[in-house]
Amino acid sequence: MRAMVIDGFGGADHLHPAELPEPAAAAGEVLIRILAAGVNPVDWKIREGYLAAMFPHRFPLIPGWDAAGTVAALGVDVADFAVGDRVWAYCRKPIVQGGTYAEFVVMTARDVAAMPVHLDFEHAAAMPLVGLTSWQALFDAAGLIAGQSVLIHAGAGGIGSIAVQLAKNAGARVVATAGPQNRTYVRDLGADHVVDYTAGDFVPAVRALFPEGVDVVFDTIGGETQTRSYQALRRNGCLISIVDEPRLEEAGGFGVRAAFVFVSPNGNQLRKLAAMIDAGDIRPPAISVMPLSAAAEAQRLSQQGHVRGKIVLKVG
Ligand SMILES: NC(=O)c1ccc[n+]([C@@H]2O[C@H](COP(=O)([O-])OP(=O)(O)OC[C@H]3O[C@@H](n4cnc5c(N)ncnc54)[C@H](OP(=O)(O)O)[C@@H]3O)[C@@H](O)[C@H]2O)c1
Repeated sequence: MRAMVIDGFGGADHLHPAELPEPAAAAGEVLIRILAAGVNPVDWKIREGYLAAMFPHRFPLIPGWDAAGTVAALGVDVADFAVGDRVWAYCRKPIVQGGTYAEFVVMTARDVAAMPVHLDFEHAAAMPLVGLTSWQALFDAAGLIAGQSVLIHAGAGGIGSIAVQLAKNAGARVVATAGPQNRTYVRDLGADHVVDYTAGDFVPAVRALFPEGVDVVFDTIGGETQTRSYQALRRNGCLISIVDEPRLEEAGGFGVRAAFVFVSPNGNQLRKLAAMIDAGDIRPPAISVMPLSAAAEAQRLSQQGHVRGKIVLKVG
């Protein structure tokens, strides 16, 4: 099969095309014929070697954790799918090697789900990782409920594009940060307020909107943004970061709770997201589509940190 691979950690020019054996579905697994693969910042972080201590890696390594495509084969004991079904999946596995920048991937069947009925493969491939991360951060970790207020950083990014919609759909009041060129995009996602993070400190801008502070901060930036975010929270509020592990003493000093989330595969949550898209409650991020062979360029763009929505690699 065709794939884009790296043979060691390094810059984007390490990514090169390769012809590799097609994987086979073991018991309990699904072989997916990938038609589109989502690009996420974690892909270039893996390529640079930043996650080497967190997960075992093997080379040649195919990056990519997001797939949309059709079922090509089923391992024994897999009864929930039929060959040809349109599926999507967040394909993180215990060993980082067989990713989705390729024509085929195998994944545990329970973490694969039918994709939304009326969605094309490119938009579907933009969803699993950011959809699951946003769900697990906002609902599982923060416990966000109707009537609460939430500050979502980077509302125009891959995560922000879904988090803003999920929070709004849950009945929360949403303020998101974005650069001025993304104000309209983020408003159209459903944000009640957009704060231009390039115009100055976001804390007074958020406090002007929510004088007692917000109930939840979704930190998709980390560093200084995380530290300053505590001042935008109300007492007993909570900050969930997906970038930097919060320091619990620092959070405690502000009288708030803080936690880190690393997204897990979850077929049930993918089914909920598919149902929400089919019902018209949420929609995928804006996408830019590039060919699989342009994976290095796609990662360079992602690494610059200003993609609106998602980049998707067209595979099939
Ligand atoms: N722990 C986990 O499980 C997990 C899961 C997914 C993602 N992540 C991490 O979360 C981060 C965000 O992911 P993503 O996919 O949303 O990234 P992304 O799509 O690359 O984010 C790009 C967006 O960030 C905005 N941005 C950049 N700097 C900003 C700032 N200081 N304040 C506000 N917005 C800013 C840009 O908007 P402008 O052009 O307007 O500046 C751009 O739209 C990444 O570091 C990623 O690795 C972690």
